[in-house]
Amino acid sequence: MQIPSLILTANPHFIDLAWAELARVQPAAQRVAVLAEGVWAVTAVNFFTLAEQWRQQPPIFAHHICPVHLALPVTGLVADVSLLAEAVGADLAAWLDAEMPFSVQTRILADLPYKPFDVNTAVAHTIQQHTPAPLDVRQPAQILSLVVTAEAAYAGISLAAHNLSDWAGGMHRFARQSGQISRAEFKLLEALAVFHLELPAGGVALDLGAAPGGWTRILRQKGQFVTAVDPAALHPSLYQDKNMRHLRLSAEAYLQQPPDRFDLIVNDMRLDARYSAELMAAYAPYLHRHGRALMTLKLPEGDGLVGGRQTIIEQAREILNPVYTIAGARQLFHNRSEITLYLTPE
Ligand SMILES: C[S@@+](CC[C@H](N)C(=O)[O-])C[C@H]1O[C@@H](n2cnc3c(N)ncnc32)[C@H](O)[C@@H]1O
Repeated sequence: MQIPSLILTANPHFIDLAWAELARVQPAAQRVAVLAEGVWAVTAVNFFTLAEQWRQQPPIFAHHICPVHLALPVTGLVADVSLLAEAVGADLAAWLDAEMPFSVQTRILADLPYKPFDVNTAVAHTIQQHTPAPLDVRQPAQILSLVVTAEAAYAGISLAAHNLSDWAGGMHRFARQSGQISRAEFKLLEALAVFHLELPAGGVALDLGAAPGGWTRILRQKGQFVTAVDPAALHPSLYQDKNMRHLRLSAEAYLQQPPDRFDLIVNDMRLDARYSAELMAAYAPYLHRHGRALMTLKLPEGDGLVGGRQTIIEQAREILNPVYTIAGARQLFHNRSEITLYLTPE
């Protein structure tokens, strides 16, 4: 196989849209191989140029990119670990900036007798024999990315800020907490991290489509007073909390009351994206000037009879644009068939 210039990763259901985003800014790009579902090897693109384009205008669907500076065959045996450590660690160490913290991020896309941790540790150990750059797996400024398939390993070095995510392949992981109510909690945590959204202590938040209550639980954990709106019941553990009130109403019905004013409005309602955007626009007057909003836009898994997913997103944007600035739009790792928007009042 031709040596790729970079590896692109997205949710497998949305890789075609990630590719369209890439082709829009880099029309000469070519896919040379599918390394796994949602992981494409790409050539005829300069990684640095693309990374700068996307740093200035982030894509929605591409989760992660990493460059390829070296491609090596692997045997599929445990001995690969030390071979990779020697070849990759020794060859690429000189590319690292000695002043900046680095980490090694390995993804293994085949059934192999070693784990990413084994490769990360071995490669980082070799690198440290060749450069004084400090190892910092939590906040690296530069990353040596390794993608290993049954046949080959691809390695490259880039600034963390150029990879679209600080996590290997964009797989933003959170530890499961005791008391967790829903998997949806992860997508709120990820949205807060990706959009750098700090919640002020004692903020007043509205959670539209709150049941069973995962987002409400996270917002309470972060010191927000929460109004949870949903016709469905919340998890029993939430009702003991005096700083949470549940209005067993639809979002439409709460609009008639009229609602209070909020520092934060979040909306994870299972509704058509455009209708949900219309409701969100109707709530804009109830968001303080300094307020912030997050919403998920539910999308079909493929482009079918209901219309293209890009069209649905564009239509939702048009509905929101008069009252909100769309400060961020991402298909997060924890989003299923949806994207998350970060909104600020117009
Ligand atoms: C995906 S769940 C929300 C999960 C929640 N974020 C969590 O973390 O547990 C979607 C919710 O939207 C609610 N929903 C759908 N249409 C609604 C509407 N018009 N008004 C209020 N809630 C609605 C449903 O009852 C359902 O509980």
